[in-house]
Amino acid sequence: MRELEERIRRDGIVENGDVLKVDSFLNHQMDVELFAAMGREWARLFAGEGVNKILTIEASGIGIACIAAQQFGVPVVFAKKSRTKNIAGDVYRVQVPSFTHGGMSDVIVSKRFLGPGDRLLLIDDFLANGAALEGLLDLAEQAGAAVAGAGIAVEKAFQPGGARIRARGVRVESLARIKSMGSGHIEFC
Ligand code: G4P
Repeated sequence: MRELEERIRRDGIVENGDVLKVDSFLNHQMDVELFAAMGREWARLFAGEGVNKILTIEASGIGIACIAAQQFGVPVVFAKKSRTKNIAGDVYRVQVPSFTHGGMSDVIVSKRFLGPGDRLLLIDDFLANGAALEGLLDLAEQAGAAVAGAGIAVEKAFQPGGARIRARGVRVESLARIKSMGSGHIEFC
């Protein structure tokens, strides 16, 4: 999506070679007009797919998912990163590597909000190693829900997540796919 790529070129900052800072418009300060354009694009791409719910993961996916959900006219469920060890049995649970705290963190969704009748669109801000998206796929599988695909804002195509998840047969629609980046340069696929 040209608008997102141009914004990344203009306002994105590459740090340490492989981290793209987009906190001025995507995951700290949020440009909701841009989010709306992204939502329209996913709505176009997944039109006719019968999506009845969007599933995302806290924290940064939530804002993007909510604005996208307005285009689909469906609710959003966000998977919660829980630090509570004793979790009641009324949740689906998966372990995902924690970037910020190290180790693994439990990610949960209440069984009340996902089930076999659902056809999900998974939304997240970044696809890098794919751990977060794989966690969401696992939760969907536990729930017996179908997955129409994944809508990703920024895919770092030089990291393995995208290829791994597409190899599982999941449709992944990333609005900006970065082929390579370094200080002062970003190349899109
Ligand atoms: P994954 O998202 O594909 O699982 O990737 P990975 O495990 O490599 O990344 C872990 C965390 O780092 C994720 O956020 C992911 O969104 C974020 N991330 C990965 N690459 C970049 C990057 O280049 N720039 C920025 N800004 N973030 C990146 P998280 O810590 O799990 O969640 P959140 O609370 O920030 O949403």
